[in-house]
Amino acid sequence: MKIVVSAPGKIMIMGEHAVVHGRPCMVTAVNRRIEVALKITHDNLLTLNASDVGVVNYQKEISNLGKGEIEQKVKFVELALKNFKNKFPFTTGLKISTKADFCRYGFGSSGAVTACVIKGLAELFKININKRDIFDLVYQTILGVQQRGSGFDAAASIYGGTLYFVTGGKVIEQLNTDKLPLVVGYTGVKADTVQLIGLVWKKLAKNPEKVNKIFDKMGELVEKGKKAILEKDYLTLGDLMNQNEKLLEEFGVGTEKLTALIKAALGAGAWGAKLSGAGGGDCIIALVPENKREAVSKAITDVRGEVVEVETGEEGMRVEY
Ligand code: MEV
Repeated sequence: MKIVVSAPGKIMIMGEHAVVHGRPCMVTAVNRRIEVALKITHDNLLTLNASDVGVVNYQKEISNLGKGEIEQKVKFVELALKNFKNKFPFTTGLKISTKADFCRYGFGSSGAVTACVIKGLAELFKININKRDIFDLVYQTILGVQQRGSGFDAAASIYGGTLYFVTGGKVIEQLNTDKLPLVVGYTGVKADTVQLIGLVWKKLAKNPEKVNKIFDKMGELVEKGKKAILEKDYLTLGDLMNQNEKLLEEFGVGTEKLTALIKAALGAGAWGAKLSGAGGGDCIIALVPENKREAVSKAITDVRGEVVEVETGEEGMRVEY
């Protein structure tokens, strides 16, 4: 029996970094999906192929999952299997392969692949498990791999849509909204999320009062942003995104390239623009009036950014066949 599960990538709208520290954020699932195929085998091995990230026929005994040195590229899948197996024991072998078209943009492929693996295993072994249980297993896996993180990307992949989310899934609220008028610009630089989370963590340890104040302000912006999204008040949302960007820059997670793309978008008529995610590279998002979309896209390309066509509010993980 073979099963194929897919899940969308995500874009952080507002609240990154603060959401690692107990505050809310808003995230939307995008129409770039990852697909994971899973099959039970009669050996006692995990065989993993993830050609998009250069993993070819990686093998590990099922009884040794999670043990020994594990290559970063296979960690999410291997630890997801281990966490699932601890909760729902199995002994069969498994053949797993993944296919994604968005790894390089920082759209959250790790969260998406982990969600697909957990959902796929539940389907294969006919275990009744709801979205919340899947989220908890995925979040446990994310923390196992990178120690820190909010889990917002996993929530977007599992639930889909546009979400208001609080750290670790304390709140996962679906926002009833239209597709957001976003233009996404990729810097061409891959960000190291774990390192950037660590950088902000160090700043917090050094100056808790100041940094907590910034987190609080970010949280307030997200609350206002949520209202603006629900009311489709994009002028206000754009302004809040700009304020969020200024606060993120205080953490030193901006880069020249990110700033160049943001300035270009604003100069061409965007309501608001900011980095999206950990910073250090990856993407910017610009909220744009329809009649400025082309001009904003051109301005981003002119400063050597790559415009990535995406639609927001994509459906969450699903079984394909
Ligand atoms: C990274 O895309 C967003 C962060 O807030 C990390 C997280 O929420 O896990 C920096």
